[in-house]
Amino acid sequence: MQPADSRPVKVLILFYSFSAQTSGLIHRLGAGLEGQGVQLTCERLQPITPRHFPIGTMPATLLMMFSTFLRVRIPIQPLSPACWEQYDLIVLAGPTWSYNPSGPVLSLLDRDGARLFAGRQVLPLISCRGYWRMHWLNLRWQLERCGARVVNRMIFTHPSKEPWRTIGVFLKLAGRVPERSRWLGRFYPRYGHSREQQDQAFAFGELIGQALKRGSSLTDLSFASGRVGQDGA
Ligand SMILES: Cc1cc2nc3c(=O)[nH]c(=O)nc-3n(C[C@H](O)[C@H](O)[C@H](O)COP(=O)(O)O)c2cc1C
Repeated sequence: MQPADSRPVKVLILFYSFSAQTSGLIHRLGAGLEGQGVQLTCERLQPITPRHFPIGTMPATLLMMFSTFLRVRIPIQPLSPACWEQYDLIVLAGPTWSYNPSGPVLSLLDRDGARLFAGRQVLPLISCRGYWRMHWLNLRWQLERCGARVVNRMIFTHPSKEPWRTIGVFLKLAGRVPERSRWLGRFYPRYGHSREQQDQAFAFGELIGQALKRGSSLTDLSFASGRVGQDGA
């Protein structure tokens, strides 16, 4: 597969995922890219102290929400050498944590942001319950401060309706299984993203791969279909 200047198209996906929602989307996005002949490198950010989902208790969940609201960093392992090669595009993906990028992504930006993103074309992917705007604004600002060219965004929100979505995510983080509750399960059938959204991620991968091969801009691509229902802060 040869792009406009006859080099193979190379994409790096850097991601963090706590409860497997971002990783599910990335898996499909990557498959779409590879289907277009893109040479893909995928790197998962690994906290130095491993974090396990679910958090397990309500007090610990509240504490994590508070610390993430304060943008407490979660230190990560060094990136593998492949991340420092030249790429046509870097996809930076992860969940929203209390209206912010997640702690591992904040650590990455602090430690490696300038070296990794300066002069690069970057496309963020956000997986969240529904409230992504503050996260997006902060992430774009931080990336641009590192010298990145932020070309677009892919936002995926959980398709369940409010208030069940918020209640369901909280209970799930705290170690409960709300989707199996006889009462709540009627309004909250599943945690996280739907099969349709994973298919959209695959289609987005194909779209990106095609645009990169043509050498055309990613700014005009529409990724709006990843969002479902109400959008918020
Ligand atoms: C500590 C914490 C805080 C969260 N805060 C938000 C938030 O402010 N807005 C939102 O839409 N989702 C929030 N979420 C939900 C996650 O963004 C959502 O479940 C996402 O799909 C998880 O992706 P992951 O499985 O890749 O980690 C929060 C999750 C956690 C663990």
